[in-house]
Amino acid sequence: MTILRTEGLGKRFGGLDAVKDVSLAVEEGSITAIIGPNGAGKSTFFNLLAGYYTPTSGRVTFEGEDITGMAPHRTVKRGIARTFQTTHLFEEATVLENVLAGRVVRSRSTVFDAVLHTPRNRREEKENLAVAMAELEFAGIAGFAHEPAAEVPQEVQKRTAVALALATEPRLVLLDEPAAGITEEETAGFADLIRAIAARGITVCLVEHKMSMIMSLADHILVLERGRMLAEGTPAQIRSDERVIEAYLGRDEDAEEAAVAEAAGAGPTGAGSSTTGPTAPAQEGAR
Ligand SMILES: Nc1ncnc2c1ncn2[C@@H]1O[C@H](COP(=O)(O)OP(=O)(O)O)[C@@H](O)[C@H]1O
Ligand SMILES: [Mg+2]
Repeated sequence: MTILRTEGLGKRFGGLDAVKDVSLAVEEGSITAIIGPNGAGKSTFFNLLAGYYTPTSGRVTFEGEDITGMAPHRTVKRGIARTFQTTHLFEEATVLENVLAGRVVRSRSTVFDAVLHTPRNRREEKENLAVAMAELEFAGIAGFAHEPAAEVPQEVQKRTAVALALATEPRLVLLDEPAAGITEEETAGFADLIRAIAARGITVCLVEHKMSMIMSLADHILVLERGRMLAEGTPAQIRSDERVIEAYLGRDEDAEEAAVAEAAGAGPTGAGSSTTGPTAPAQEGAR
C-alpha cells in the first residue's frame, strides 16, 4: 500500500527551483533513500512533506489524504516525524527529557490538568515516561537517559533525535542525514537501528551520503539533482543507471564512497573517476 505520494511537487526560492516536479510513491513499511549532491533539494523535499515549507506546486498525499501545505504541528499529529540534518536537541536538558518532548504531540491533558495535577495528568505523565524510556531502550541509549544531551557522544545525540521522533508515535519518519558525523563503525549499528524501525511497520525515508549504508538498507532510492528527479528505483537499478553513474556514483564500484563524498562537497562535476580512493576522509562531519 502506498502511504505517501507526491505529485509534481515543487518549491521555488526566488529564481531557484530547489525542488521541481517530484512525483514519488512510498510503500508502507519500506525504506526509501533520497540521495543526491549537496544542494540537490533533499532537505527541502523533506520540509515540503512535513509542512515546514509550503509547496509552490504539486500535491502531497499521506494515508490517502491531501496534506499539501499542512503545518508541521498537524503533520506530526498525523504521524509524520522528522529529524534534522543538524541535530536539534535541548542541550541543557537530559537525553530522556529530550525524548519526552516528543510526547507533547500525543498529550490530551489541558493546562488545567497540568496545573491541578489531575488523575488524567498523572496517568499521562506515567505513560509518557514509559514510552520515552521504551524508545530510549529501542535506540540502545537507555544508559544515557539522565545525561545532559550536550555532553553525550555524537552518536548518542543522533540516536536521541531518532528516539524523539519515535516518541511521537509516527507512521512515517523522515531522517535527514541521521548518520552524518559518526564513524564507519557506528554507521553499521545505525543501519541496524533504521532496519528495526521499518520492522516495526514504520515507514522510513532517509537522506544519506553514505552509499554503502544506502545500498544495503534501501528498498527504493530516489536520486535528486538540482531539485529534479534524476532516477528512481531499487538499489540494483540505481547502481546500474547510466545517468546516476555519470552524475553521481562514479564508474568504479569500490570508489562509490569517495565519489559520493566528493560529489557531496563539490557538486556533480566532481564525480566520474576515482582519484581519491575509498580511504579519502568522509565529508559528512564537515557541516
Ligand atoms: N529557505 C531557503 N531559502 C532560499 N533557498 C533555499 C532555502 N532552503 C534551501 N534553499 C536552496 O535550495 C537548494 C536545495 O537545498 P537543500 O534542500 O538544503 O539541499 P540538500 O539538502 O540536497 O543539500 C539549495 O540551492 C539551497 O541553497
Ligand atoms: Mg540537506
